[in-house]
Amino acid sequence: MARLSLIVMLISLVITMASAQSQEDGSNQVGWAKRVDTGKEVVTNLHFYFHDTVSGKNPSAVRVAQANETTNSLTLFGALLMADDPLTEGPDPSSKLVGRARGLYGSAAQTELGLIMVMSYCFTEGIYNGSSFSILGLNPAINPVREMSIVGGTGLFRLARGYAIAQTYWLDPTTGDAIVGYNVTVATYI
Ligand SMILES: *[C@@H]1O[C@H](CO)[C@@H](O)[C@H](O)[C@H]1NC(C)=O
Ligand SMILES: *[C@@H]1O[C@H](CO)[C@@H](O)[C@H](O)[C@H]1NC(C)=O
Ligand SMILES: *[C@@H]1O[C@H](CO)[C@@H](O)[C@H](O)[C@H]1NC(C)=O
Repeated sequence: MARLSLIVMLISLVITMASAQSQEDGSNQVGWAKRVDTGKEVVTNLHFYFHDTVSGKNPSAVRVAQANETTNSLTLFGALLMADDPLTEGPDPSSKLVGRARGLYGSAAQTELGLIMVMSYCFTEGIYNGSSFSILGLNPAINPVREMSIVGGTGLFRLARGYAIAQTYWLDPTTGDAIVGYNVTVATYI
């Protein structure tokens, strides 16, 4: 009797495994969608410097919009800037150019400085030439160190997700010009 129930148990286990297998195969088989095991994850660490120049004759970030209230706001709440900021290997602006950060940032906080960053970091150096990742996150720029999320990418950074740690290297408090060091961790697949 005990032996019989053991056999029944084994048979039902085999049936359960087989039906799970066929469900998996079934989802692989539809004409318009396919699931594959993508294999290995790759983690890339990047170090570079971001040069944001708002003053002078050749600013790399320009104010494109603001609210009426922005002029009365200590945090410039509502100001929106378009940036095309060089990314270099070292903190010196004349060090090797590795890419550009292009996109928008705007003042999104009323009681403290908080910049919402919506930017594509596009690289031009070596194997990374033509690859980019996108940052979408709040940058409390007054904090010595802040973290922003990486939400996607192109080229070598396809399917990217990760985080950027930004640390101000140099700031001109009168103009707002800044050089910011970035330590970035990005996970992608081979
Ligand atoms: C903004 O200010 C201008 C000039 O003072 C005024 O004409 C306009 O109605 C204001 N707009 C809003 C949305 O308050
Ligand atoms: C990056 O790629 C572009 C387009 O393929 C090419 O024109 C450029 O010379 C490359 N830059 C570097 C630094 O390799
Ligand atoms: C960034 O990375 C460098 C090199 O690994 C390290 O010395 C530095 O402390 C890091 N900075 C932050 C803010 O994590």
